[in-house]
Amino acid sequence: MTPLLTSFFQSSQDAIQPILQHYLANPHAPRPLMEAMTQSIQHGGKRLRPTLALACADLFHVPRISAAHVGAAIEMVHGYSLIHDDLPAMDNADMRRGHLSCWRQFGEATAILAGDSLLPLAFEILGDEKTHHSPAVRLSLIQALAKDCGASGMAGGQLLDLSPHLIDSLETATTMQSLKTGCLFAFSCESGAILGQAPLEDRQRLRHFGFLFGLAFQIQDDLLDREGTVEELGKPIGMDDHKRSLVAFLGNRESKRYLASLHQEMIQLMKPYHEPFFEEIILWAIRRKN
Ligand code: IPE
Ligand code: IPE
Ligand code: MG
Ligand code: MG
Ligand code: MG
Repeated sequence: MTPLLTSFFQSSQDAIQPILQHYLANPHAPRPLMEAMTQSIQHGGKRLRPTLALACADLFHVPRISAAHVGAAIEMVHGYSLIHDDLPAMDNADMRRGHLSCWRQFGEATAILAGDSLLPLAFEILGDEKTHHSPAVRLSLIQALAKDCGASGMAGGQLLDLSPHLIDSLETATTMQSLKTGCLFAFSCESGAILGQAPLEDRQRLRHFGFLFGLAFQIQDDLLDREGTVEELGKPIGMDDHKRSLVAFLGNRESKRYLASLHQEMIQLMKPYHEPFFEEIILWAIRRKN
């Protein structure tokens, strides 16, 4: 990672950490549930989606504290999605971020409930006045995130991912990946424009960028599932051999070519903002090893 990216990731981690801690310190909830939630959120993770949300919010001079609240909400949704993704009924994975996966450590029922509890926490954070002083902006964030993680968003994509018989073409594989991974990235980027009450054109541009970024990110994730190492990834490899991903349709070589074309498309899309961070993060996304 370049020095610019390293410092950006660190500053976004510093900004969201107190908010995550605050919302994960709930004395009224059963201890084992809070423990499962806290470990899943606090044991590592790149904090990529919040970092993108903060960078996009910076484009519109949004106060850090606002963007950090949205970043924390996104990380709660992401944490929930990973806990459920690892369940035996889904990807049946034993390891996550170099530790036992949530269900392996705390049992299936607790893991399901930890995910169930992290998801609404995201909406609680978005409803917090500290997220934005305007109730209309908070409502807009809540509606956008609700859509992006529901049946026509992430959850729908996860269903398709687990239903190979529904994926019979490159097009349906792209739809599956756009939903399961792209939607949360799209919200992360779009949220900066929502917070900044930016023109619709910016909102659409950033959302489009988020989808392309998510697509590229998932392609690289699926390539790493084939070519990466457990040590670097902190999660098992070869788990998704049976999945009908884009990489499964295209093969490794063609997938890398496709990544290169997504790279160019993303650079063009973000050019109007003249922000070197985006050039660097786009390059990192298609070359990353973890
Ligand atoms: C993993 O996302 C899930 C996918 C969409 C491939 P990340 O690779 O961002 O997970 P963490 O948060 O860094 O562990
Ligand atoms: C996960 O995709 C996507 C979501 C959690 C929504 P993967 O199943 O490829 O993620 P990993 O490889 O387990 O992190
Ligand atoms: Mg999965
Ligand atoms: Mg998985
Ligand atoms: Mg994967």
